Amino acid sequence: MVSVTSLQKCYQESVVLRDISFSVEEGEVFGIVGHSGAGKSTLLRCLNGLEGYDSGSVHVMGREVGDLDPAGIRLLRRDMGMIFQTFNLLSSLSVLENVLLPLRLWHVPAAEREARAGELLRLVGLYERRFERVSALSGGQKQRVGIARALALSPKVLLCDEATSALDPGTTISILDLLLDIRTSLGLTIVFVTHQMEAVKRACDRIMLLDGGQIQGTGPTDRFFLAPSEDLRRLVQDEYAQFPGGTNIRLWFPREIARDAVITSMARALDVDFAIVGGKLERYADDVRGFLVINVPDPDRERVLAYLEAKKLYWEVLGNE
Ligand SMILES: Nc1ncnc2c1ncn2[C@@H]1O[C@H](COP(=O)(O)OP(=O)(O)OP(=O)(O)O)[C@@H](O)[C@H]1O
Ligand SMILES: [Mg+2]
Repeated sequence: MVSVTSLQKCYQESVVLRDISFSVEEGEVFGIVGHSGAGKSTLLRCLNGLEGYDSGSVHVMGREVGDLDPAGIRLLRRDMGMIFQTFNLLSSLSVLENVLLPLRLWHVPAAEREARAGELLRLVGLYERRFERVSALSGGQKQRVGIARALALSPKVLLCDEATSALDPGTTISILDLLLDIRTSLGLTIVFVTHQMEAVKRACDRIMLLDGGQIQGTGPTDRFFLAPSEDLRRLVQDEYAQFPGGTNIRLWFPREIARDAVITSMARALDVDFAIVGGKLERYADDVRGFLVINVPDPDRERVLAYLEAKKLYWEVLGNE
């Protein structure tokens, strides 16, 4: 659906995107995360032709974006809806008028566009409020209007730039769940830019971490957070509690492993006691995932490590070993 190869982008002398290569599959929710200034928005704008690029390739739905003329860019943008942190709605107009705007711009016949806008407003749960001004809505409701407007022309790809960053945690979840629903019901591909780690965990199938305009890592979301490399751990600022003495072992549980059974089975099989130091279970897109840190007394250490190895569990010894 989207394939970027060796992309480089400069503003004057400074390189803001360097050697960026990744691809997004059809139907996927692909997250791009990173600190402020990492180049996330710039990368998103390269995908829909709002920005040019200096070298490399941006291939979107069979088209090389850099080769498109203005008419081609217009067609490309029709196929790529976009939503923003600041919603970018016309607040003096009604909810309905905002959704009708892109349909008017593309000269969709009146009856058809009314029907389409009504259908989308039902989808986002705002049909009853269609005649109200946007300025009377809450942030979450405004973003629902933003989503309805972005979907008006039936795009195949939805680009989201910090779409939930201005919203409180509960509203963020409701917007993410709406996006996941429409991904499934409309078969959309979503590129989701954010600095909110909680949002990517809930929404994204795969993520890519950008820092200083470069890719620092990419992979399935659960692996990315549950088994981060040292660099990633620093960037996502995850630290694990450890007890002094003994061996602190962090186990993590991808979907294929039943988390409860692992710990109790090991305790039974080895007849060892260990302390639970800490852990976290979180809701990811399709399931609850998490990790657990245990502290094993020195005499049991080798037996526990051999068991974990033999069972092919996911684990690491923490500390300066
Ligand atoms: N139009 C521009 N002209 C010059 N420099 C720019 C321009 N737009 C962005 N930049 C620079 O490019 C870099 C990346 O900016 P970008 O907006 O893509 O970051 P971001 O990851 O989206 O950050 P944020 O999380 O704050 O939105 C920054 O150093 C920024 O100052
Ligand atoms: Mg940005």
